[in-house]
Amino acid sequence: MADSTGGDPRPDLATELDAAGVRFEAHGAVATVTLNRPERRNAMTFRTWRALARIGDSLPADVRVVVLRGEGPSFSAGIDLSMFSGGGDEGFPDGEDQQAGDAFIAGLQAGYTWLRRPEIVSIAAVHGHAIGGGFQLALACDIRVAADDTKFCMKEPALGLVPDLTGTKPLVEIVGVNRALELCLTARTVLADEAARLGLAEYVVPRDELDTTVTDLTTALLAVNPGAAVATKRLLLEAPDNSLEEQCAAEGREQLGRLRELSAALKG
Ligand code: ACO
Repeated sequence: MADSTGGDPRPDLATELDAAGVRFEAHGAVATVTLNRPERRNAMTFRTWRALARIGDSLPADVRVVVLRGEGPSFSAGIDLSMFSGGGDEGFPDGEDQQAGDAFIAGLQAGYTWLRRPEIVSIAAVHGHAIGGGFQLALACDIRVAADDTKFCMKEPALGLVPDLTGTKPLVEIVGVNRALELCLTARTVLADEAARLGLAEYVVPRDELDTTVTDLTTALLAVNPGAAVATKRLLLEAPDNSLEEQCAAEGREQLGRLRELSAALKG
């Protein structure tokens, strides 16, 4: 087991996570990442996103399911607004230097992209507000389990920004360009029922059943053969960008790999 409060063989990581208001626990195949600044509604800074990237970089190899959750009344209120008035952990990059700016933002996006890795299934356990960068964090996960008090909002355009934490692609893939445009440019709040209708949440459950639903889902995911789970996620991720012919070929390749592995296991 590794956690951010004790017994962690990587004390530098534990210190970094504590400073960023992020908690990490891994128990065998299941890891839990908790946004832990409830007094700020889990508002996130550059430090938070870099901490998430560090978790992705150092995730134990035996982890198969990663649960993202928020402590307190909300999943996350998005970017820490104090950063716009100089109160954050550092300033924004100088927009003049394109290359440095691109690298800076890619470093923050790395906190989100690892959640799509085929080796894991990521679950966002969402409740309360999931705004801006918080909504995008939920979108970065493979499965969203939402409590019935969840309020999603893509607030960035209302603040003069764009959603740049990897959220535009999954949002469009889930709801289509037109609905995504309407949600982003009105920055309106999507309640849990509508989120379920739009496909933004795979499950909507009463608030007090959020944790048990996530635990049951995790158990079901872990019951599947690990190799089959990785290969299936890889296939499904490729599907939207592949032609039918390419996808059929990919299915064949993955299946032959599965058959080889299963037959080797049978032979013992
Ligand atoms: N950044 C910094 N502090 C925040 C943020 C935030 N994003 N959200 C909440 N807080 C702080 C509040 O200032 C307040 O601090 P205080 O106790 O010192 O007054 C505390 O968290 C509690 O917030 P309340 O507003 O009192 O809590 P409530 O539950 O009533 O409302 C809500 C929660 C709806 C999330 C509200 O705080 C809010 O609208 N926050 C701003 C959301 C936002 O615009 N985020 C930016 C999105 S864009 C992006 O992420 C790139």
